[in-house]
Amino acid sequence: MPKNLSPCRLALIGNPVAHSLSPLIHREFARQTGQAVTYEVRCVPLKCFVEGVQAFVDEGGVGFNVTIPFKEEAYRWVTRLTERARIAQAVNTVFLKDGLWWGDNTDGVGFVRDLAYVGISICNQRVLILGAGGAARGIISALLLENPKEIVIANRTFEKGEALAVYFQRMKGACSIRAVAISKNPLIADLIIHATSQELPLLAPKSCRGTGCYDLAYSTQETPFQKWAVQNGAANALNGLGMLVEQAAESFFIWTGVRPKDTRSMIARLLTMPSPQLKNNSM
Ligand code: ATR
Repeated sequence: MPKNLSPCRLALIGNPVAHSLSPLIHREFARQTGQAVTYEVRCVPLKCFVEGVQAFVDEGGVGFNVTIPFKEEAYRWVTRLTERARIAQAVNTVFLKDGLWWGDNTDGVGFVRDLAYVGISICNQRVLILGAGGAARGIISALLLENPKEIVIANRTFEKGEALAVYFQRMKGACSIRAVAISKNPLIADLIIHATSQELPLLAPKSCRGTGCYDLAYSTQETPFQKWAVQNGAANALNGLGMLVEQAAESFFIWTGVRPKDTRSMIARLLTMPSPQLKNNSM
């Protein structure tokens, strides 16, 4: 963006948002890339998403992130959807193009990029997803593009897991994707993704032996799931901090056309910070 234009005014809209790391991340991206960007947080009352967005737009907002509980509402609010937002049925990034509001979803690509950076390949691997809510839905299309051997969804409510599996089976070129019931028997996987809203999933502990484990919730400290997975023999256990930074980088790119290069040093810096109380996937 030329320096003589007013800054690109961005925000995070959600509830709660007070502990979000997103402002810090985007301000650092702006500094790194020399882009004139402002990024604020807007805590919007639960039934007032549209009003909250309108107020921000009236004040000059030209793009925003959306977090819990508004990702589905944002999906309905925008005029146009990118393919990945359409498939996820949720929007976490809103941008203006040719006078129209577009909705995108950068969660899946952020997740897959983080895995790639830490050297975890999904290609030909067996992936187990615990949970079948919005967090799970948000990453599955990006996972499918990496050609896993299979995706298994284990959810407390089996029917919800099954419905999600059926939904993604329709995606062109999809690998085997199916739902299983939660049971006391271990499930076999190379990568286990914790995508429920609970700290610990319903999963036989032995399932973790020798696997990679990834908690979609983020924290600058080890999460309870990470600790539990390592105690039960996981080969490694990560949380969603890397995904948070990578999805933010993708959003920043959408808004400014400039891709932040140094996401990994940002993650390293965040890891030295004390952890605020962060809820599941609340960007
Ligand atoms: P999110 O958008 O964070 O994914 P969500 O759409 O409400 O939130 O989904 C929450 C997920 O956590 C669901 O998979 C839910 O399982 P159900 O489909 O059976 O409701 C799961 N979950 C919530 N509470 C749970 C609990 N006490 N034990 C196990 N799973 C739970």
